Amino acid sequence: MKITVVGAGGNVGSAVALAIAQRDFAQEVVAVDIQVTRDGRTLEPAKGRALDQWQTSPLHLFDTYLHGTTGYEATAGSDVCVITAGVPRGPGMSRDDLLETNAGIVKGVAEQLARHSPDTVIVVVSNPLDAMTYVAYRTSGLPPERVVGMAGVLDTARYRAFLAQELNISPKDVQALILGGHGDSMVPLPRYTTVSGIPVTQLIAKDRLDEIIRRTRFGGGEFVEIMGMSAWYAPGAATAQMVEAIALDQNRILPCSAWVTGQYGLENLFVGVPVKLGRGGIREIVEIELDADERKLLETSANDVRNTFEALNRLMGL
Ligand code: NAI
Ligand code: 2OP
Repeated sequence: MKITVVGAGGNVGSAVALAIAQRDFAQEVVAVDIQVTRDGRTLEPAKGRALDQWQTSPLHLFDTYLHGTTGYEATAGSDVCVITAGVPRGPGMSRDDLLETNAGIVKGVAEQLARHSPDTVIVVVSNPLDAMTYVAYRTSGLPPERVVGMAGVLDTARYRAFLAQELNISPKDVQALILGGHGDSMVPLPRYTTVSGIPVTQLIAKDRLDEIIRRTRFGGGEFVEIMGMSAWYAPGAATAQMVEAIALDQNRILPCSAWVTGQYGLENLFVGVPVKLGRGGIREIVEIELDADERKLLETSANDVRNTFEALNRLMGL
């Protein structure tokens, strides 16, 4: 199993590469990034980070060989490719501020990946997430089921962690689902949130649950407020879980950004929905019953995503 991570000289990409290696299912992780010039010297961050990470193999006990490069030749024949390349969100920036810069970067990366690995599945992480997944889909030429965005697994992990802390229970026992775009209008679904099968609404007072949902929605921004930059450990772990599901054909049911074709009354966009994820990417979009309020929230979130698609259309004709 061969996995490529582009943007692996940066925070999220390097966390993805290490989390994949620690899961010990891949023979090879190829870490790609651009060269940078500092103090007149040409440096290769992905190569350095991958070398450092590979040297943890006797300590973390994995067999995966990680190595870094600045080109795409070594990525040829990758089973799964992850794109984290781009510019991260800084103080005062919304995810959509990133749109134009990251669209150009993701386009160039997706074209190269598809050229060298025409049978691959691409997992997009770069923000704004749903729009960048669309850019990768359109510019790679891959079929829609082989392009998938990572957001719901991360957002749901944050939600589950907050709930476990509130209830003083193990996060392992919290199951949850979040739909919609990767933005402040995402839609956590308390009706589909359980603790070992017990509806969470029976365990938490409504005002506390509302507060946890609010914190989840702004989960990405919380890091920008605290440390002036966005997170990487949980994004890395969430992406690795998706890559493993695809590489090992696990048919996991995970919330991912997927190309919808009428499901939930939505079409012609990438948006977060539950999918069956296995070899070849998205096997199926799982449709669950939503009540009128949930459906309205999903429509609002989908409209936010649509606005970024319209901006992309103006900027790049996509
Ligand atoms: P970072 O700045 O640490 O890393 C980005 C890397 O991309 C840099 O190393 C940069 O050199 C590289 N890069 C830029 N242009 C490139 C190109 N043409 N080819 C190859 N590599 C290129 O940023 P960080 O924190 O790793 O974030 C990466 C992206 O992931 C951002 O867009 C961020 O907003 C997004 N993100 C998405 C999350 C999600 O839930 N989907 C969660 C966290 C971050
Ligand atoms: C996050 O949710 C910034 O989208 C990124 O952490």
